[in-house]
Parts: sequence; structure tokens; C-alpha cells
Amino acid sequence: MSRPLAELAPAETARVVRSVLVPLVAQGAIVRRPRLTAWAERHQSDREARRLLTALRDRYDGAPLCLRLGPRRLVVVTAPDDVRRLLEGTPDPFTAASNEKRAALAHFQPRGLLISGDEERRRRRPLNEDALDASQAVHDDGAAFVAAVERAADDLGTRALVDGGLDADAFLRAWWSLVLEVTFGARARDDHRLVAVLSALRRDGNWSWFRPRRPWLRRELERRVARHVADAPSSSLAGRARDADPDEAPGQVPHWLFAFDAAGATTLRALAVASARPEVRSRLVDELEAGKAAGGAALLPYGRACVLEAVRLWPTTLAVLRDAVRPTEWGGTTLPAGTGFVVVSGFFHRDTERLGFADDFAPEAWLDGRASEDWGLLPFSAGPAGCPGRNLVLLVASHLLARLAGLGLEVERGRYLADDPLPCTVDHLGLRFVVREQARTL
Ligand code: HEM
Repeated sequence: MSRPLAELAPAETARVVRSVLVPLVAQGAIVRRPRLTAWAERHQSDREARRLLTALRDRYDGAPLCLRLGPRRLVVVTAPDDVRRLLEGTPDPFTAASNEKRAALAHFQPRGLLISGDEERRRRRPLNEDALDASQAVHDDGAAFVAAVERAADDLGTRALVDGGLDADAFLRAWWSLVLEVTFGARARDDHRLVAVLSALRRDGNWSWFRPRRPWLRRELERRVARHVADAPSSSLAGRARDADPDEAPGQVPHWLFAFDAAGATTLRALAVASARPEVRSRLVDELEAGKAAGGAALLPYGRACVLEAVRLWPTTLAVLRDAVRPTEWGGTTLPAGTGFVVVSGFFHRDTERLGFADDFAPEAWLDGRASEDWGLLPFSAGPAGCPGRNLVLLVASHLLARLAGLGLEVERGRYLADDPLPCTVDHLGLRFVVREQARTL
């Protein structure tokens, strides 16, 4: 049962807009803007947002905070029970295809599952779950994906030794080849034009309604995707989806590629922590060695927990949004259909009142069940529209992380990451790693 709604006064509304919503939109909801992510790290913008929401939560005793922004009514929830109600109540009465998301994502993935209406969702959700093998910790085609990870890690290792280090650009170039290979098979791994076109359309998506569509670019994206889907081996994500439903498959792929960007950012941040903490690094390496001995695409529980921890500490979905499709009752008030709901991930993920490990790097919390039972920890969302790519991401990212941890890299600015508490905002695009002297002479 929700507490009665707290209608925020205009001054409080202005503070939430300034400290929570503006930084969130400014950093780029669809693709991060490098200059603004650097700014966000310098100003630790997430800390201010978190401070304000904590104060409002305490003042209104966990009541949902109601803001009026012109004709739009937005409700920012501050209690895990309310998060649960929204996520379990998707797609009806709370649709994931919120106004803001539809406007932003339509630039490059108008047929994507996340912004699909009810009827299409019934077809597209099972297709996504099947292609991504959502319910399995290790994807059916995991062995092929781990082989692709090995190639990417070898490339990155060679490059790091030659260059004496690794920066985010070099990492991301190899990352996108890996993503293309997992999605479409090895023949697609050099189609960086596809990634560039998608990035351009995602940048348009950041501007949502305010940027005119570029149909010629979207047609190029669709042409490239269609060609790769047709050529994809059955042991790739696109091949699996095409074999199940050739008409719907191409429309789902742009979301997958877009979402892999978040997985790359998370792997980089987890690597930064591992490179600053010898005990994390050696545990990752030991687990990988044991997994290799067992053969195949090993499950790496500690590696997965490190990835989960990185995305908890620095969530890539800054806010989970829902719109009410019908009137809903909140603590005695009925809110009309069309009301928007906002779950600010960073606030819930770092809530010191709920979590003893809020600002610490605590992969153990994902291993002993503490984190998985908390509705406020939603890096991959949950419920019927929870991320079907979660297990796949954890497989690919944990294997890459463990292999890169074995390179003996040191992260510049490592002293910020070596100990708890960890900073609220880390600009992954500014990360740089150097090869330790010791590793260079091995
Ligand atoms: C670190 C990486 C990722 C994170 C943190 C993440 C997180 C999320 C979150 C929070 C949502 C729900 C959004 C909402 O409720 O509004 C979501 C949805 C989704 N994700 Fe992911 N995701 C990641 C990577 C991926 C990948 C790599 C894929 C596919 C290959 C994928 C496929 C999807 C799909 C299809 C949906 C829509 C689900 C639906 O509407 O039913 N995600 N993801």
C-alpha cells in the first residue's frame, strides 16, 4: 500500500528538475555525450541528485513525489515497494513504452520491444527471450560467444603491450567488433559503419522530439542490419531470431546493439576497479583458470558479481520510466492515465539507509542473495519487461573482464577506486589503463 502522494511545491519541483532530471537528460539518455559525462564526473552530479532525493524521501516518509511539469504529471518514487508495484505491473497498468522513450527510441528502433504496444509485445517478448536465451545463465551458443571474447581479449592484450596501455577508445573499438560477432557472426565484425550510423541515430534520440528524423540514415541502418541478419549463422543472436521469426527479427536488432554499449561501459568500469584492487584481480583470474580447466563457456559467478556490482554502483539506465495506461490509485489519490513514473536508479542503488554496502565494491552481495532480493536494486530492471539480455551480458562481460584482469593493467586515477567509498560518478570514456612494468617484462 503506497503512502499518500507528496505534491511537491514549485520550489521543490524546480530543485528536482535542476538536480535530478536535467543532469540525467544532459548526459544523454540514449548515448552518453563525452563532454558532459566528463563534466558529470568532475561535479559528481549523481551525488547531488542522490542527496536531494534522500532529503525528500525522509521529509515525506517515502511517499511518491508528484511533480507537475506543464501538462505532464511525473511521479518520482522513493520506496522499493513502489518500484516493485511499477515493475510487476508492466505492461498494464504501467507501460514501459513511456512517452519519452517512444520519442527517443523511434529514431533508430521503431519496432523494438521496449516501445512496443501490448499486441506486438506478446509476439516480440518471447522472440527476444528465445534469441537471447534469457532464462539460461549460459546461453546455448555460449561457447561461440566466449571464443569471440577470447579473440577480442587477445587483440586488446597485444595492443596494450605495443602501446604501453589501453584507453576507452581502443577498448570500445575491440568491444564493437566483439558485439558484431556475437550478434551476427564473424563475417560482420568489421562493419564499423553500422556502429557509426547507429551512433548518429542514437545521438538524434538524445534530442527526442526536438531533432527531426533522418529517414535516409535509418534506411541505411535497416539495410545493413537486414543483410547481416540474412547472412548470420544460427549460432548468433540474429541467426537465432531469424530462424524463429524472419519478419520480426531485424526490427529487434538495433536495440541489442544499442544495449551492448551499456555492457561495454560496465565492463570498462569493472576493469577499472579490478585494476586498482589486486585482490579482486587475482580472484577473477583464478576463477577463469578454474573455468578453463572445466572447458566450454564456464559460468564465472565472481566475475558476474563484479559486473553486477559495477552496474549497481554506476547504473547505465539512469532512470527506469513507466506511464500509467489507466487511472491508478496511490495512497488514496487516483492518478489519471498518462501519468509518468520515474525510478532514479542511482538513488536506490546507493541508499545508505537500506544498504550497508551502498558505496562499497561488494560483489559478495550478489553471491549471497542480499542484492537480488532487493527491489530497489534494478540495474537490469525486473518483472515482465526486465532486461532479457541480462544473462548474456553477464556471460560476455564476465569472460572479457576476467581475461583483461589477467593482463596486469593499472588504471590511471586508480587511487579513487582502490578503496571504499567509491565515487558516485565515473566517466568510463575518460578511463585509461597502463601496462604495469612487471607485466611488460614477463
Ligand atoms: C549492461 C548492459 C545492460 C543493462 C544495464 C540493461 C538494462 C536494461 C534495463 C534497465 C531494461 C528495462 C528498461 C525499462 O524497463 O525501461 C532493459 C530492457 C531491455 N534490454 Fe537490456 N540492458 C543491458 C544490455 C542488454 C543487451 C546486451 C541486450 C540484448 C542483446 C538487451 C536487451 C534488452 C531488451 C530487448 C529490453 C526490452 C525488454 C522489454 O521491454 O520487455 N539489454 N535493459
